Amino acid sequence: MNILVTGGAGYIGTHTLIELIKNGHSPVVVDNLSNSNAESIRRVEAIVGTSIPFHKIDVQDKEELEKVFSRNTFDAIVHFAGLKSVGQSVSHPLEYYSNNIDSTLVLLDVAQDYGVKKFIFSSSATVYGTPEELPLKETNRTGFGITNPYGQTKFMLEQILADVAIANPDFEVTLLRYFNPVGADSSGTIGEDPNDIPNNLLPYVSQVAVGKLEKVSVFGDDYDTPDGTGVRDYIHVVDLAKGHVAALNHSKPGTEVYNLCTGTGTSVLELITAFGRVAGKEIPYEIVPRRPGDVGACYASPEKANKELGWFAEKSIEEACEDSWRWQSQNPSGYA
Ligand code: NAD
Ligand code: WQD
Repeated sequence: MNILVTGGAGYIGTHTLIELIKNGHSPVVVDNLSNSNAESIRRVEAIVGTSIPFHKIDVQDKEELEKVFSRNTFDAIVHFAGLKSVGQSVSHPLEYYSNNIDSTLVLLDVAQDYGVKKFIFSSSATVYGTPEELPLKETNRTGFGITNPYGQTKFMLEQILADVAIANPDFEVTLLRYFNPVGADSSGTIGEDPNDIPNNLLPYVSQVAVGKLEKVSVFGDDYDTPDGTGVRDYIHVVDLAKGHVAALNHSKPGTEVYNLCTGTGTSVLELITAFGRVAGKEIPYEIVPRRPGDVGACYASPEKANKELGWFAEKSIEEACEDSWRWQSQNPSGYA
């Protein structure tokens, strides 16, 4: 398939490009590089041994986007482009609402004009807000207890996409709710490259391991979890990338939603210990108060994706730590 990949220069986008190409698809990337570096695309090209058409474009720019559509015939769109920092979204809500919502509206508009039939959207565990039950299923309520504008944009965009699919019966929408993506390609040449001090746990731990940061602050050890620290469903980014290929292979009218997760929870302390084992060093940490807005535990059932997409998360948390460590230790300053 010819596939438009928005946000393809980013963390999940780059790993997905590899899986798309390995499976015979032809991706075209658009990205404004607001949170990435064109070097990431060059590195993907080196891994797959083929060139990837790349356009430095803001998805909100309809005129520029139309030029890309007019030169290609896309069978599907995988829409990663968006801002993703929970904390920044609280301090810059308008930037988040306008970037994430406007870009998707413009993209949908152009996609409709050019008759694209399939749309895969990067949604997030965050739409479940305060989990109604564990493990979470796709049928659980969404929108209740979302504590930040970033999460709201994902919740709103899920609704917008479902409405567009209702109005256009031959337009298929797949909402993929990612849990906590971690790890990197096993080559060690691409990976997560946060602009500032990382917000997410695993990139923070890996920067402590490489000596860029002093110690990990563990946000709370008084949750109702086995060791009192937060529990999450960490999924290897390569497994996540494969989930997109599986979703492209699957055809069903209307809107379908899938959790991309492992079904297993790992605590903050378990993750720090696993990373230390892999890096061959003790990771210093201290327990600090809970982070506002956090829930104690969040993990989900992958059963629907297993059954309907034939997709399974295969990689372990140890492999994720090994791959992240290879990327971090070989590229201490990321792509810079
Ligand atoms: P990322 O920041 O590495 O990648 C997103 C890419 O989109 C970046 O390259 C950025 O430059 C680009 N971009 C942003 N706004 C754009 C615009 N208006 N026009 C063109 N390009 C634009 O993030 P990621 O971790 O790869 O996440 C990809 C998607 O998955 C995002 O939508 C994110 O919200 C979602 N998601 C991520 C996680 C996670 O923890 N990483 C979890 C759930 C969902
Ligand atoms: C994981 C655990 C923290 C950092 C976020 C978004 C979610 C999704 C994934 C995009 C929690 C603890 C963290 C640290 C810590 N992104 N922690 N010290 O909060 O589950 O999810 O990223 O859609 O929307 O909310 O991920 O990696 O920030 O935290 O103790 O320095 O690690 O309290 O228990 P989270 P995270």
